[in-house]
Amino acid sequence: LGGMVHGAFAHKSPDAAAGPASKKRAAVYMDSEDEDEDGGRAAAFTNGIANHSTPSGGKRKKMRKNGAANGGGNAQAQAAAKTRLLQEQRAQLPIAQGRDAIVRAVAANDVTIVLGETGSGKTTQIPQYLLEAGTLAGLLAITQPRRVAATSLAARVSQEQGRPLGTLVGYAVRFDEKLSDETRVKYLTDGMLMREMMGDPMLERYGVVIVDEAHERTLRTDLVLASLKRILKERNAGQAPGKGKERARNPLKVVVMSATLDAEKFSRFFDDAPVLYVKGRQHPVSVYHTATSQTDYVDAALRTFYQIHVDYPVGDVLIFLPGQEDIESLELSIRTYAKQLPANALGVLVCPLYASLPNAKQSRVFAPTPAHTRKCILATNIAETSITIPGVKYVIDTGKQKEKRHLTRMTGSGFDTLLTTDITKSSAMQRAGRAGREGPGNCFRLYTEDAFDAMALSSEPEVRRSSLTSALLQLKCTGQDLESIDFMDNPEVEAVGSALRTLWLLDAIDVKRQLTAFGRSMASFPLEPQYAAILLASVDNKCVADVISILSLLSSSSPLFPDSSAQRDDAAEARLKFRHPSGDHLTMLNVFRAYDELSASEGKGARRDWCRQNYVNERALREAGDIRTQLRGVCERTQLDWAVSCGDADGPVLKSLTRGLLQHAAFLQPDGSYKQTLGPSVIKIHPSSFLTGKPCPAIIYNELVRLSSAAAVTSRAECIHRCTQHISTPAASRLCLRHS
Ligand code: CDP
Ligand code: MG
Repeated sequence: LGGMVHGAFAHKSPDAAAGPASKKRAAVYMDSEDEDEDGGRAAAFTNGIANHSTPSGGKRKKMRKNGAANGGGNAQAQAAAKTRLLQEQRAQLPIAQGRDAIVRAVAANDVTIVLGETGSGKTTQIPQYLLEAGTLAGLLAITQPRRVAATSLAARVSQEQGRPLGTLVGYAVRFDEKLSDETRVKYLTDGMLMREMMGDPMLERYGVVIVDEAHERTLRTDLVLASLKRILKERNAGQAPGKGKERARNPLKVVVMSATLDAEKFSRFFDDAPVLYVKGRQHPVSVYHTATSQTDYVDAALRTFYQIHVDYPVGDVLIFLPGQEDIESLELSIRTYAKQLPANALGVLVCPLYASLPNAKQSRVFAPTPAHTRKCILATNIAETSITIPGVKYVIDTGKQKEKRHLTRMTGSGFDTLLTTDITKSSAMQRAGRAGREGPGNCFRLYTEDAFDAMALSSEPEVRRSSLTSALLQLKCTGQDLESIDFMDNPEVEAVGSALRTLWLLDAIDVKRQLTAFGRSMASFPLEPQYAAILLASVDNKCVADVISILSLLSSSSPLFPDSSAQRDDAAEARLKFRHPSGDHLTMLNVFRAYDELSASEGKGARRDWCRQNYVNERALREAGDIRTQLRGVCERTQLDWAVSCGDADGPVLKSLTRGLLQHAAFLQPDGSYKQTLGPSVIKIHPSSFLTGKPCPAIIYNELVRLSSAAAVTSRAECIHRCTQHISTPAASRLCLRHS
């Protein structure tokens, strides 16, 4: 470890960057030879919205310490002290000074745009201000692009209100909710709000809808914004004096919140709605770039973390990584090396943070860092703006993110693919800003300054790059269409065509583009249209119970068979007993059935042991169990019998799967490869698939992965590469698939 850490980084030393050692261990930072330049870059983002150091920064820290030290006393006194402390913290947030102005603006306008630095208090405070002002008619909804944000913010705001989560303040995300009749403030994902609109097109239950993180411009956020514009026209139409008759409707108030400087565009979209600026606190952040580009950003992040750990004063580190797999692999490496630190060294506490992390684990991220410890948070871009983590002094930015892409040309349509892509300048600046929340900080970028300069300014709205199938189906259910809706940015014609084609192939719409009864039933399930079609097909094929289990596993955020490369052979052998000759989906079903059987008779411990022995991921099974319960609930509400099973027969299940995956079918070619039926690509079976060995005449699959490895390229793969060149990836790639 010593060698790796001390020898690897010649940070702040441009000379070492050129040395041979640094070539091998390339995460070397250029502290600009020219002091001004570095300072200039730090100023570039501190000058953005607000550049105010605060006299209360120190005070806030002390308060947290007091909170942690408050160990004695009875539980009630403790709770009261906690509430008091939270109230003090609330009062000190930058947004607190603007409280009255915000309440007034919302009362006076249909739409208010609020722009504010991350951490200034927008998300947690504005709903409370409106609630506490006593003027709130009906429910208040506040949308988040991500589940974790919705659930953790609802928990925080409940605490601040001194009430249990799910009473006054609750949340609703796909497959999970905590609400009651008492709930007035509801944190929910933007997708959930869209879903609610199918049953309540005018959102009559809500008096206020806040669209948070609007700058992210996810497809769902854009849909919500467009829908709100329509609803405002209807609900607030009779507001002008003299039109008394129509005033019977309760008016809707909309607040759009953003963390970047794009307020003007939102304001224009909503007929020049007023913009309120919240001054935040942003201390200067010194930004370092690597001297050379990094091939392995996980390894570079590991080295950089330990460089900080050894060379820099106490302060937590936030590392931005693209996804869960990278987070898990880095977590393991950091822990391994942490064990080798000298006994008197500062301890290391690693906390992962990604969208599908279980709630209990999330809270560790926000808990005060124990004494003589450095917290290291490994996060996806969720920590960029939606979640503020206190105590962060150092940011390590890999410069990568996962981005939804709809690869029509490659996949022949259907699902979105998550691709690891370079971030944008705007993201890079937000990430760096996370280091300067409570005092001056440092940001280490694992890419060169040239790479930064080459980044796009901000990302393209998702409506321009993701699949519109599910959105189109939802719109159709409320009598709308992609073409007629007033988007902030219009989707591409090709993407609209592709969504129409998919819905038509699934029988959700007819040749006249009218929604069919089948399509309407599909929309009642919180599933991708393809999966919803599979579920409904299973009713005819009399295998609903089996298909729901499979779809639940496919919808779970963790893989059922994690790739434990360390024990790959053992794992493969242990899992072999579940193998179904027809393929992966039925193999998954076998695992789920075995687990269900065990659950009926055995306790928690036995289940855990069983999962460990068989190398299956219990988290995936538990999550799938919850999803299955939800899906069964929807079946009951729509009077479908979910208990019908086809037993050991695989025909009905395969038939149902094919119904939804017909765009994801491929036929065997004479040379042993598979050619897509409705797409241009030649594909291969993924090595991790259970369907290996004898080739079958036709296959269906629900996932298409791109593997990058120079060694794996064949002439055919090159041909595939040519037709997928519009995606920026390493030079060589090939397509594989997991299928049934
Ligand atoms: O939305 P915005 O980025 O403006 O700020 P916010 O999410 O309302 O957060 C305001 C403050 O509450 C920040 O200083 C957070 O550190 C704190 N907070 C927290 O301590 N724990 C949470 N779970 C959420 C917020
Ligand atoms: Mg926020």
